[in-house]
Amino acid sequence: MAVIEVDGLGKTYPGGTKALHDVSFQVPKGEVFCLLGRNGAGKTTLLRILATQLRPTTGRAVVLGHDVVHEAKLVREKISVVPQEARPQMMLSGYDHIYLMSLIRGMPRPEARKRTRAIMEEFDLWEHKDKLTADLSGGLRQRVMIAIALTMDPELIFLDEPTIGLDPLGRRQVWSMVRRLAKQGVTVLLTTHYMDEAEKLAGRLAIVDRGQMVFLGSVEAAKARAAHGMQVVVEPMNGNGGEPEVLSPTSDTEILAIVQRGIQEGRRVTFKPPTLEDAFIAMVGGGIDDEGA
Ligand SMILES: Nc1ncnc2c1ncn2[C@@H]1O[C@H](COP(=O)(O)OP(=O)(O)OP(=O)(O)O)[C@@H](O)[C@H]1O
Ligand SMILES: [Mg+2]
Repeated sequence: MAVIEVDGLGKTYPGGTKALHDVSFQVPKGEVFCLLGRNGAGKTTLLRILATQLRPTTGRAVVLGHDVVHEAKLVREKISVVPQEARPQMMLSGYDHIYLMSLIRGMPRPEARKRTRAIMEEFDLWEHKDKLTADLSGGLRQRVMIAIALTMDPELIFLDEPTIGLDPLGRRQVWSMVRRLAKQGVTVLLTTHYMDEAEKLAGRLAIVDRGQMVFLGSVEAAKARAAHGMQVVVEPMNGNGGEPEVLSPTSDTEILAIVQRGIQEGRRVTFKPPTLEDAFIAMVGGGIDDEGA
């Protein structure tokens, strides 16, 4: 049984904004599933429906065997959510957060202390246990946010843009935490704007554009879909300076024509595999940040 089963999901907000349209996919246990899309594409809307925070307008979603609308309470017992731009209580330490959350869950104090230590040690947070979250770096703070979410022992965790604003090292630390979770069998659904993040983490990814799923599959499949699987780079004429032309042919004939032209003009022609960003742009068009363009 898939951990997430989505069938024909749609969402129109009360003001009339169609945020999602006819989205269907499944996520198996232990997968890191990435939702990729520009600002306003519908990523958070989809995540919030699956996390039972929003009702869909059409279609249905089953999470861990329970319908997200009719059995929302049962879903909530098994999931955790780290919302977009989540902020901890700055005047509490990471330890305080996890300990208090364990108490709220009804754990007796000695067990809550043990549990807090186990989570913090597991994710290399123990040495920072007494620091106020206000004093933690962005990367550490985000790892603490995820650790807090793990207090609930979720089978599925939703991370909405977990590495936004983090430096390269902070992002890598969050990635390694996500990988470790997946290894333990926790299913992860995360949204991101970062292509490298999806490349590093995604078992499969979905590209959402204007509320519709325009791609579903592996990173490799996304790249293969773009540019006929290959990009052609035509270097400028010798001594002519300038930028190389990077072309994305859509047929073998086109590739041949580009190579012939390059030879005639005495330019060097090389091939390079498309990046995920090339694939993304080919499918979505324009830059990742020009909303609704
Ligand atoms: N509560 C709301 N009421 C009305 N419209 C909304 C609401 N939340 C989101 N929208 C609209 O729905 C669309 C999808 O928004 P959503 O937040 O799901 O996008 P997103 O992909 O998460 O974007 P971002 O990358 O900026 O976080 C946008 O047009 C947005 O303006
Ligand atoms: Mg969002």
